[in-house]
Order: sequence, then structure tokens, then C-alpha cells
Amino acid sequence: MSFKTTIEPFRIKMVEPLRMSTEAERIKYLEKAWYNPFLLSSSEVLIDMLTDSGTSAMSNRQWAAIMMRDESYAGASSWERFEEAVHRVTGMPYILPTHQGRAAERILYNYLGGPGKVFISNTHFDTTRANIEYTGAKAVDLPCQEAADEDSDVPFKGNLDLDKLEQAIHEYGVSNIAGVILTVTNNSGGGQPVSMANARAVADICSRENILFILDMCRLAENSYFVRHKEPGMEQYSYLEIGRAMCDLADACVMSAKKDALVNMGGFLTLRHGDMANACTSMLIITEGFTTYGGLAGRDMEAIAVGLEEGFDPDYLHYRISSTAYLGNKIRALGIPVLYPIGGHAVYVDAHRLYPTSLCISTPANRWCANFFSSAACDP
Ligand SMILES: Cc1ncc(COP(=O)(O)O)c(C=O)c1O
Repeated sequence: MSFKTTIEPFRIKMVEPLRMSTEAERIKYLEKAWYNPFLLSSSEVLIDMLTDSGTSAMSNRQWAAIMMRDESYAGASSWERFEEAVHRVTGMPYILPTHQGRAAERILYNYLGGPGKVFISNTHFDTTRANIEYTGAKAVDLPCQEAADEDSDVPFKGNLDLDKLEQAIHEYGVSNIAGVILTVTNNSGGGQPVSMANARAVADICSRENILFILDMCRLAENSYFVRHKEPGMEQYSYLEIGRAMCDLADACVMSAKKDALVNMGGFLTLRHGDMANACTSMLIITEGFTTYGGLAGRDMEAIAVGLEEGFDPDYLHYRISSTAYLGNKIRALGIPVLYPIGGHAVYVDAHRLYPTSLCISTPANRWCANFFSSAACDP
């Protein structure tokens, strides 16, 4: 994979002026916010690197689709376009629109979780873990061993450790395992990709043991890019084919559309089995909205339908991954410790290695302290 940057495969039609600030002003803002970027006002931030979530600019086709929205309570044409787009990517028969990824998680893990239940994942994202633990269930992270070495150039550090998965099934007992969750890319594991071979092996173990296999597909398109370019034998497939093949392995998918669907708000839950779909749909209606809009306005569903297609565009994905790698490799060359190889949606700076521990101030958001580029964990 090339680490050169590339020109943007789009034309910028609109600009939003930024409020310029001096270095002295920014130091003052940071002091006032206890060095916690979550406490800053956005007008105080010149270059915002807080998160990748919901921060994409939308395309001309997305804005045009928004104008075609149908806000009917039931059976809106916007729902039909959304459902068709989600079905094309996931192949799943049951599709539940939610206002964010965590709403899809709440519905699914409330249904599957509860005291005594165990979920196993390559790494639970924080909202995933919170939704699981809130039900009284246990969330167990089993990242592959290669993930522990931040500097090695191993291509699929997002993988789940298969030996440890077998051990965990034995240890907790198959009837207590409520699901195995693969998050692609592995966000809390540094945006590292998961190989198709690993996803297939996890799915095989789950099907052998009759355990549900759940895909958190937030960054499915980016993950497909890595699979196609780094996994032998996969270069002949399109990004969409790879993404779809991964979904085909799963019993359920959750997605925050604020990621690879390139919108500012939205999410969904997709299910393969009718009994689960019935139970989750009742919960959707009680907590989000009617089945054909859930937590979304018609205009949101239109933007997601287009974004899900554009998120798999080869030129876009190449630009996206190579510009992230360009930034990461440049700052690594300057001696800043980053998680390597550079992942998809972010460059993860190792705050512990970059700063003395005394700078890790204990605030409710201290996981994010000393964070320049993304969610480098910091446990003082
Ligand atoms: C892997 C993963 N799962 C779930 C979520 C939760 O999605 P949302 O922020 O839309 O609620 C996120 C958000 O960052 C995520 O990255």
C-alpha cells in the first residue's frame, strides 16, 4: 500500500469560515477546559480532531436526496430507499432504523443480555460495553496477540484471538455466551482492520456452537479496503463484495451511520432471524419510533441511503485511507509514538509514551487526555 497522499477525488463547493485564534489564546482555552477537549466550545477549536463520528461533509447527491425526502409517518418512500440501500450492503431481511449506533446496541443487547450472560469481542467499543454491562451482562475483550505490539507492521491487528475464544466458550459455558461481536474496523483497538479469514473463523466457531455472531459494521467500507489490499486472494473482489461477504457471515449487524454511511446522524440494526426481529421491533417502536422511520427523519434516511453507496466508492476509499496513512507516517517519522500500522479512520497517538503521566489529568473523560489525533487511551 502506498503511503503517498493523493488529491481529493471531489470538488469543494461550499466553505464555512473558521474563527482564527493565536497560540496564546488556544493555551488559555485549554487551561480553562482542564485540558479536556470535550469541554471546549467548537468556536475555540481551529483544527478539530476530537472524533471521526458524524463529522463528514455530505456530498451534492446526499443534499439533493434530502430534498426528495418523504416524511410520512408510515411507509415513506425515503424508508424504501433506505431499506434497499441497507439491504444491498448487508443482505439482511430485517432492518431497524435508529437515531445512532448506540440506540441499535441498546435494543439488541437489552434483548440478548442480562445477568449471567457474556459477550466476547475483538474489543468492545465504549458504548457497546456500556450497553452490555448496563443489562448486568459481562463484556470480555479478546484482541489478537499481535495487537499488543504497537510498533510491529502486522496487517490485521483488529482480529479476534481464536484460541482465546475457544477457551472462553469452554470457561463461561456455551449457554452463557450471548454473542460474539466483531467490530470492523476495531475502533477501540486503534482502527485496526479485521481479516476476512478471521471473520470466517469466528463465524465458523459461532455456528458450530450455536452462538450468535454480531458484526459492528461502523467502518465496514474501510475494513474492506484493507482486506482487498492486504489479504492474499482478496484483490479480485470489490469493496462492496467484501463488505457484503462479511455481513453474510453474521446473524446481526449494528451500525453507526455517522461513520461509513458519511452522515452527521443516524444508525441501524439489521437482523437475520424473525424471532429476534419481532422482539427488537417492539423495542424500536417503544423507544425510537415506528418501524419505517425508527429514530430517523425521512431526510436522514435519504442521506444514509446515498452515503452507504458513496462510502464504498474506490476513489474515495483510496483517498481516505492514504491520507490517514500520510498523516500518521509523517508524525511517526517526527518521533511521535503512534499505533502502527496506521488504521483507517484515525491516527492513534500513544498518550502514555508521548507525555509524562503527571499530565494525565483525572476528569470524567480522562481516557481522552493528551489526545491530539484520536482516542489514545490513558489510564493514570
Ligand atoms: C465501533 C463503534 N460502535 C458503536 C458506536 C456508537 O455509535 P453512535 O456514536 O452513533 O451512537 C461507535 C461510535 O463511535 C463506534 O465507533
